[in-house]
Amino acid sequence: MKTSHFVLALLLGAARAYVQPCIPMSTTATLVSSTAPGRILPSSTVLLHTPQPQASTAPNATMTIDIVNLHGTDLSLLFVVGAGYSTPIGDPQPTVLPLSSTTRYLYPTGWAGQITIGPNLNSNGSKIEGSFTGPPDIDVSYVDGYTVPITCSSEGVIVTGCNIDLFMNGTCTNEVEGPVCLNPARFRRYGPPTCFFAPCEAAAYTYPEDNLANMSVLKSNLVSCCIGTLCKAPARQLSTPWWINCTYSK
Ligand SMILES: *[C@@H]1O[C@H](CO)[C@@H](O)[C@H](O)[C@H]1NC(C)=O
Ligand SMILES: *[C@@H]1O[C@H](CO)[C@@H](O)[C@H](O)[C@H]1NC(C)=O
Ligand SMILES: *[C@@H]1O[C@H](CO)[C@@H](O)[C@H](O)[C@H]1NC(C)=O
Ligand SMILES: *[C@@H]1O[C@H](CO)[C@@H](O)[C@H](O)[C@H]1NC(C)=O
Ligand SMILES: *[C@@H]1O[C@H](CO)[C@@H](O)[C@H](O)[C@H]1NC(C)=O
Repeated sequence: MKTSHFVLALLLGAARAYVQPCIPMSTTATLVSSTAPGRILPSSTVLLHTPQPQASTAPNATMTIDIVNLHGTDLSLLFVVGAGYSTPIGDPQPTVLPLSSTTRYLYPTGWAGQITIGPNLNSNGSKIEGSFTGPPDIDVSYVDGYTVPITCSSEGVIVTGCNIDLFMNGTCTNEVEGPVCLNPARFRRYGPPTCFFAPCEAAAYTYPEDNLANMSVLKSNLVSCCIGTLCKAPARQLSTPWWINCTYSK
């Protein structure tokens, strides 16, 4: 990973990769306030009215990450800011992204952190990671564990992530409530990933130095991320014949 990524990983106290942006699909239904209070909303709750995004009025001052939930269930979002880095605009607290809805978060210069996404607020879930300390930087990380498939795009290109639902594709050997599949390669700096995670190797981070999954130096500060198997996959995911050498179960 890049030096800035590595430093942030140390600051956060875990070996993990960092953020990437995605482009939202145009078919989203509901908009959720990025400043919604921290409680978890039941799926039937009427959503708060959402303020207009600010990105268009300050294209250089903010990085924008849109997130669309195509996973088919409501999902929880948990926000972590790297120690010493800028807080996301509005200081978003844990919230729910209802199914078939889109949300948007804005990040000031100097931000670096993560959005953990899953059926609950377990911090080991699938993550969008990013920074805006220079050119916008985004990735999807399953280094701590996996909950849902995530991909992200910028300028219409899928730049990071993996659209395979790993729970449908293999057997998790280290599962906790959610389900969350904890990643045995979390502390295995250069991998290899276990067979459960291997289908997403090089597309999303499956071990700490799985750096082909990174997308630093984005030309646009607009990123859209998509959750679910309906999301488009990055080219790297489709070109990796992971199953040939997948022998690691632990
Ligand atoms: C700010 O954005 C404008 C329009 O996209 C671009 O032309 C300009 O180069 C940007 N400035 C900086 C400092 O990035
Ligand atoms: C997260 O993963 C770590 C390492 O696998 C584990 O020690 C910790 O208990 C997990 N936390 C939760 C909330 O599952
Ligand atoms: C996982 O997906 C790959 C690629 O689509 C496929 O070849 C493989 O058989 C799947 N494995 C399982 C256990 O479903
Ligand atoms: C991660 O991305 C940056 C920027 O594109 C690149 O310089 C670096 O080489 C990448 N890391 C790896 C291991 O490919
Ligand atoms: C599988 O492993 C062999 C031996 O390490 C290596 O030569 C080969 O390139 C690997 N294949 C893939 C698809 O990773």
